[in-house]
Amino acid sequence: MSINYFRSAIENMEGYVPGEQPIGKKFIKLNTNENPYPPSPKVFDAVKARLNESMRLYPDSAMTKVKEKAATIYGVDSGEILVGNGSDDILSILIRTVVGKSDSVALTEPTYSLYKTLAEIQEGRIEKYPLTEGVCIPEEMFSSKAKLVFLARPNAPTGASFALDEVERLARSIKGVLLIDEAYADFADDNCLELYRRCDNIVLSRTLSKSYSLAGIRLGLAIGRPEVITQMTKVKDSYNVNALTGAAAIAALDDVDHMQKNVQIVKRDRAFLKVGLSRMGIESFPSQANFVMTRFAENGKAKSIFSKLREAGFLVRYFHLDYLGECLRITVGKHQEVVAFLDVLDKILHGDRK
Ligand SMILES: Cc1ncc(COP(=O)(O)O)c(C=O)c1O
Repeated sequence: MSINYFRSAIENMEGYVPGEQPIGKKFIKLNTNENPYPPSPKVFDAVKARLNESMRLYPDSAMTKVKEKAATIYGVDSGEILVGNGSDDILSILIRTVVGKSDSVALTEPTYSLYKTLAEIQEGRIEKYPLTEGVCIPEEMFSSKAKLVFLARPNAPTGASFALDEVERLARSIKGVLLIDEAYADFADDNCLELYRRCDNIVLSRTLSKSYSLAGIRLGLAIGRPEVITQMTKVKDSYNVNALTGAAAIAALDDVDHMQKNVQIVKRDRAFLKVGLSRMGIESFPSQANFVMTRFAENGKAKSIFSKLREAGFLVRYFHLDYLGECLRITVGKHQEVVAFLDVLDKILHGDRK
């Protein structure tokens, strides 16, 4: 990867004018882990076909067809699936099902920030387990007696995954329900579906927001034992998923090939991004997701790079994390976007070396 290679990539990039301020222009959005590629064309056809007078009717509150489709893909019974308005909805339904006031909720630190918010709303007691190196389940977590343990695998915002045998040990040693959030599992080398079959206290959550490129339609899934799903169904809003989302989800799940092709491209560019960063001497966590998180030891450095990237038209996410310090998280965009990002970052760090 030469600097000239980066530069020509920027010049070819749609809507990007080098040297100009992005005020009033489009930003290159690498901050919320969306998929840079469009969903399957089947999704557009399915939604268009659903735009008819049947919209006056309420949707199927159980989303039976989505459940059946998902059950086939994940190799479970449709009674083991609950459909939600994004996986955020699934997480909220589960905590309201399992956790009462003053019950304990365990989570790693850092992890997806919504877990803590939901636990606070539920007036639960939060047990935090620091990930000092970011990649191993903390030993103290194995003896947690919490009603609900949240584990994002791959984790956010680090992107790192936890070893499967460690996750199994966690499921078997805790007293409560283990929610494994698999929002990014399609970008990872493995997932917890097999483990779910072996351990009956595991609930998995999945989403169409990331690998299926459908963050805007809001569709999440819980996979759990029928008894848990039955209880969760009592807690959810009756019509938590709308008819157009249902139609889009069935079409997306009908085209797993499309999703997998996009995932392969994202994984290739994830590797490209990591190599580019390491050539600039920037440390990043091992990522199994569609983003890469970098860590900066020098105080204020990440914040300053974040601001300069923004001025140059690139949105990334800045974190100041307990235990891990100052970090930037970069979503893997289209190849041209990654190339351009690396070029701009290089200029920020080393000036114009042309
Ligand atoms: C770990 C994790 N879980 C869940 C979500 C939310 O996904 P959804 O769009 O399905 O609500 C995110 C979104 O960024 C996430 O990072």
